[in-house]
Amino acid sequence: MNEPPTFRTPRLILRPRTLADIEACLAMDDDAEVMRFLGVRWTDAESHRIFVEARTRHSYPPGMGYWSAFLEQTFIGWILLTPLDLLGPEIEIGWRFVRRAWRRGYATEAARPILAHALQTLGLSEVVADIMPANAASVGVARKLGMRLAGPAVHAGYDVSRFIAGRFDAPAGG
Ligand SMILES: CC(C)(COP(=O)(O)OP(=O)(O)OC[C@H]1O[C@@H](n2cnc3c(N)ncnc32)[C@H](O)[C@@H]1OP(=O)(O)O)[C@@H](O)C(=O)NCCC(=O)NCCS
Repeated sequence: MNEPPTFRTPRLILRPRTLADIEACLAMDDDAEVMRFLGVRWTDAESHRIFVEARTRHSYPPGMGYWSAFLEQTFIGWILLTPLDLLGPEIEIGWRFVRRAWRRGYATEAARPILAHALQTLGLSEVVADIMPANAASVGVARKLGMRLAGPAVHAGYDVSRFIAGRFDAPAGG
């Protein structure tokens, strides 16, 4: 498998991110609440755009990358499945959604098929999510996915909680 698949959930379509999604990604990131628990990466709009474009064009391992989530025709966020910081060896799952879409179960609904894809289709032994402990929403997503807290870690200089989903863990319901 080279091209990551498109997924359909009861409410969403998840398709591999293309350059056409970049403006929506940049607009989402312009919301300080969205970026509250994420390390600062960009000092200006141009370096932000360069970062998002590079992440979109990057050549990921087979079956990995970023998926844009659409509610009907509208971009509402993304899920990533990539080597941690592009380097690995850990494989990371992550989520980011526009604020107006929060607290409706969309992030969990979107991440679920991608986590299953990672563990079952790609056969990864485990997937990690590094989350700032104060980011209750993101911790909520990890827990609803059935990820377990492995302990503290440091990611990009920030203290985080590392959550892990393993191939042989019991799947989460709901
Ligand atoms: C993290 C994020 C993607 C969650 O998206 P979401 O669609 O609101 O998440 P869900 O609706 O699937 O919620 C999952 C669980 O977390 C809980 N939750 C969501 N937001 C919460 C909050 N602010 N405080 C406490 N719990 C919260 C939900 O209630 C749900 O649990 P429940 O079904 O038992 O009630 C969203 O808040 C976001 O984009 N945040 C900014 C980017 C970010 O921080 N990404 C993660 C970086 S590690």
